[in-house]
Amino acid sequence: MTSSDFIVARDDFEQCKTIATELPAVDALPQDALLVKVDRFALTANNITYAVLGDELKYWQLFPAPQGFGNIPVWGFGEAIASTHPNVPVGERLFGYFPMATHLIIEATDVSKRSLRDGAAHRQGVAPVYNAYARVGGDPTYAGRQGDYQALLRPLFMLSFLVDDVLAENDDFGARTVLLSSASSKTAFGLAHLLHARGRKVIGLTSAGNTGFVTSLGCYDEVVTYDRATSMPADAPVAFVDMAGNSALRAGLHRHFGDQMKCSVRVGLTHRATDADEGELPGAKPRWFFAPDQIRKRAKEWGPGGIEQRFGAAWSGFAPTLDKRLTVVESRGPEAVRQVYLDTLKGRIPPEQGHMLSLLG
Ligand SMILES: NC(=O)c1ccc[n+]([C@@H]2O[C@H](COP(=O)([O-])OP(=O)(O)OC[C@H]3O[C@@H](n4cnc5c(N)ncnc54)[C@H](OP(=O)(O)O)[C@@H]3O)[C@@H](O)[C@H]2O)c1
Repeated sequence: MTSSDFIVARDDFEQCKTIATELPAVDALPQDALLVKVDRFALTANNITYAVLGDELKYWQLFPAPQGFGNIPVWGFGEAIASTHPNVPVGERLFGYFPMATHLIIEATDVSKRSLRDGAAHRQGVAPVYNAYARVGGDPTYAGRQGDYQALLRPLFMLSFLVDDVLAENDDFGARTVLLSSASSKTAFGLAHLLHARGRKVIGLTSAGNTGFVTSLGCYDEVVTYDRATSMPADAPVAFVDMAGNSALRAGLHRHFGDQMKCSVRVGLTHRATDADEGELPGAKPRWFFAPDQIRKRAKEWGPGGIEQRFGAAWSGFAPTLDKRLTVVESRGPEAVRQVYLDTLKGRIPPEQGHMLSLLG
């Protein structure tokens, strides 16, 4: 039996291919192992960022690939088709971090009623969220279209939730207006939804072709194209949350707003345009947002289940808006996956689309 694995060259993401990898025979699986068929996963710009940061943040080590190549992690669903773990039956449905592949072997550990972990040695040393799996069989919120929304948005919305939390906790650093770049991205509009709900003015910065979509979302008070970003009035304090990671844009905004730039949070790299030397910028110093830090802090302050309960409430307010905001597009098979991957890499996916993929034919 083989797995089909979609791999990309680490030094040139346009070079990609599907390869066959030998799987052990079912009766040769080690103790406590699961052979999981990966049947559905989401692909967005966030996954491209995992590749960009593959070495730095150890994403490449999670799902080994041949020398010089990497397997990009994706959020999705799998089903155990063989199990040597006494408490995880064949047919168990799992939601979590998978390779772009048809199969994954998980060394099941910390098995509880609702979750388990992959204890494989090469998957340790990363944030715990990257080797945890939710046991979602029979849970309607992880089935059908709701399941697609979970894969496409839940991990991104966690980031939106945490950034909103930091801003709220700090009284938005004195700003009443928040600027978001790559406003059409799912991470950005999740954050815009939360900021808007607590009465902040939200300005979405986006490319000309995406202004219609960003306006239609209804959670941005203003939509401004990148070429007009430094024509905005700069007489009141602002906070900037940067999903685009475009250093020229960031430097331009800092110089334009000067001391009115009260907070500048780096979150994403959708534009992959980070080489310009910014030098010292006026206003608050841009700093990377590291989600695990805020999770650790809140876990301590809010106690067991505190984050999940608050995040769950936020998700319940957000998920019902998605039918109007997103169109799920499904594609199956290696060639279709390759095409969607290349379109995602090149920024050719219309923002209203959410792509659910499978390498199974
Ligand atoms: N730090 C964290 O923990 C964390 C967590 C979640 C997400 N993020 C980051 O947030 C960013 C957004 O991710 P997402 O999955 O929400 O994105 P998405 O929904 O797939 O966003 C797509 C948008 O990104 C911009 N874009 C994508 N590819 C591009 C390209 N090649 N060239 C120029 N623009 C491009 C375009 O927006 P515009 O035209 O509006 O610019 C496009 O509409 C990612 O960089 C992701 O890694 C970080």
